Amino acid sequence: MENDTTNILPTDKHPTLRVVAMPSDTNASGDIFGGWIMSQVDIAGSICAIRRAHGRVATVAVNEFLFKKPVFVGDLISCYAEVEKVGTTSITVSVEVYAERDRIAEQCVKVTEALLTYVSVDENRQPQPVNK
Ligand SMILES: CC(C)(COP(=O)(O)OP(=O)(O)OC[C@H]1O[C@@H](n2cnc3c(N)ncnc32)[C@H](O)[C@@H]1OP(=O)(O)O)[C@@H](O)C(=O)NCCC(=O)NCCS
Repeated sequence: MENDTTNILPTDKHPTLRVVAMPSDTNASGDIFGGWIMSQVDIAGSICAIRRAHGRVATVAVNEFLFKKPVFVGDLISCYAEVEKVGTTSITVSVEVYAERDRIAEQCVKVTEALLTYVSVDENRQPQPVNK
């Protein structure tokens, strides 16, 4: 089984988005709200999809979403987005999220995995083919 606690971020790819979880992002229990994490994942996935589409995209589906570990206030989260599949108008993107809990000790945990589908859209918000 994959060990989700590592001391370093992936070295073979670059993060698409990095952001610090703030107190205003917490749920009623004081941990980071899942909706905030979903939002960061959607932003990271869309950055990747827009690059591939060379233009505007809309999120059509969240195919999978797994919160593997909690995120805490002060964690630096890094989202790694990668194109998994290109269809006629759709682009499916995987996003992995790592949290650096204590940046001095460099403790790093994979907290989330997700798969989202974006659609390339024109100026009228209608689907348009993705260039292969
Ligand atoms: C995105 C949108 C333009 C797509 O229009 P549509 O008429 O539903 O498009 P289609 O049915 O032709 O599907 C377009 C593509 O999405 C894929 N798709 C549709 N539903 C899907 C689902 N549930 N899961 C995965 N892919 C899906 C289709 O397979 C198709 O891919 P392909 O062209 O590569 O084969 C439209 O659904 C929309 O505007 N949705 C709201 C978007 C939005 O507000 N998102 C949140 C903010 S960005």
